[in-house]
Amino acid sequence: MSTVTANIAAPRTLLVAGGAVKQVAEVLAKFGLSRPLVVTDPFMVKSGMVRNVLGPLEAAGITAGVFSDTIPEPTDTVVEVGVLEMKKAPYDCMIGFGGGSPIDTAKAMAILGSAGGKMRDYKVPFSADKAAMPIIAVPTTAGTGSECTRFTVITDVERDEKMLINGLGALPLAAIVDYELTYSVPPRTTADTGIDSFTHALEAFVSKRANPFSDAFALAAMELIGRHLRTAYAEPRNAAAREGMMIGATQAGLAFSNSSVALVHGMSRPIGAHFHVPHGLSNAMLLPAITRYSVSGAEARYGEASRRFGLAAATDADAIAAAKLVTGLEILNRDLAVPTPADFGIKQADWFGRMPLMAEQALASGSPNNNPRVPGAAEIMTLYQEVWTGAPRNA
Ligand SMILES: NC(=O)c1ccc[n+]([C@@H]2O[C@H](COP(=O)([O-])OP(=O)(O)OC[C@H]3O[C@@H](n4cnc5c(N)ncnc54)[C@H](O)[C@@H]3O)[C@@H](O)[C@H]2O)c1
Ligand SMILES: [Fe+2]
Repeated sequence: MSTVTANIAAPRTLLVAGGAVKQVAEVLAKFGLSRPLVVTDPFMVKSGMVRNVLGPLEAAGITAGVFSDTIPEPTDTVVEVGVLEMKKAPYDCMIGFGGGSPIDTAKAMAILGSAGGKMRDYKVPFSADKAAMPIIAVPTTAGTGSECTRFTVITDVERDEKMLINGLGALPLAAIVDYELTYSVPPRTTADTGIDSFTHALEAFVSKRANPFSDAFALAAMELIGRHLRTAYAEPRNAAAREGMMIGATQAGLAFSNSSVALVHGMSRPIGAHFHVPHGLSNAMLLPAITRYSVSGAEARYGEASRRFGLAAATDADAIAAAKLVTGLEILNRDLAVPTPADFGIKQADWFGRMPLMAEQALASGSPNNNPRVPGAAEIMTLYQEVWTGAPRNA
């Protein structure tokens, strides 16, 4: 009997190199595309960063439309505005340029534009395989890995729910992965996005849906992120660190897109939806406590992750290596100045008051089911509580 179950998907082209964005027009030409709508955010326009895409397109005689009204942690209302924009001209593709938020917005526009309705019609367990047009993703953070995943994450404004949308419609046709675009990412965002990448690799590796393909990318990503995250945070212009983080983020994206995320992401999305905590930061707040809770379900895998991340020695037994991972993640949060929910400004009454709904939404996303140890709603609430109060030191 076969013991491997895998369903692998990736963009048709991943162009990975410092300066690769200069080749954006060639990438479009390969696919016979010539009328792009660039989907980006206001910072990219104000700072002039969007010229990195528009310049090479203009040089190739291509005039692009620009939709720059995307917001961090995108909402269904913004996606609806984007779809109207998308229909204003005969565009044949979209270039998602920015962090995960503009890339996810472009993906969601393509999916919603395919058959209309409401964004919530497309959330899991629906399989969002159709898209109105192809996406070329150019990430400027290292990061979400969205450039190579089959997911987009969109907030339902009416229901305060951060929805996971899953399907081939969300998978970019091509990605241009250029670490030089990340030099300007400020330290807070470097830390948050880097921890997001690490969480993708770790969760892909311990997920019940892990397979030999996702494992290879997850392990490689954990090693790179372990080696480069602190340097990228402390030295924004360090080319080796920025490149290591960018490659690690993309590998982590390929890992979780072909395995899954798990409990950290399941519990993180409701924090983002209710309290507007940036995605990587809500992951970071949860990561040590959820890892401590989950270790017993996959001790050998957490031990291996710890070794790859550089926190345990090759000779450490799994239990010791896994314990070092939990401690190492706590220290990492301290070193990268990750705030607690209270430090972030969340009120205790709000956190505790919304816990039942957050637990319900976490479970509904399906992600907790992939965790090596699967909690019920009551356990999830206990974990949220623990993240608020700080973990028992001897647990
Ligand atoms: N689709 C997926 O597979 C997937 C995976 C994980 C997370 N996400 C989603 O991605 C979103 C988060 O994306 P993100 O963490 O990349 O952040 P983001 O796109 O929201 O960007 C955060 C901030 O950083 C700025 N920024 C981006 N690049 C910059 C640069 N090069 N220099 C200076 N500033 C820069 C942006 O303008 C913004 O203000 C969330 O909505 C999250 O849910 C999606
Ligand atoms: Fe993530």
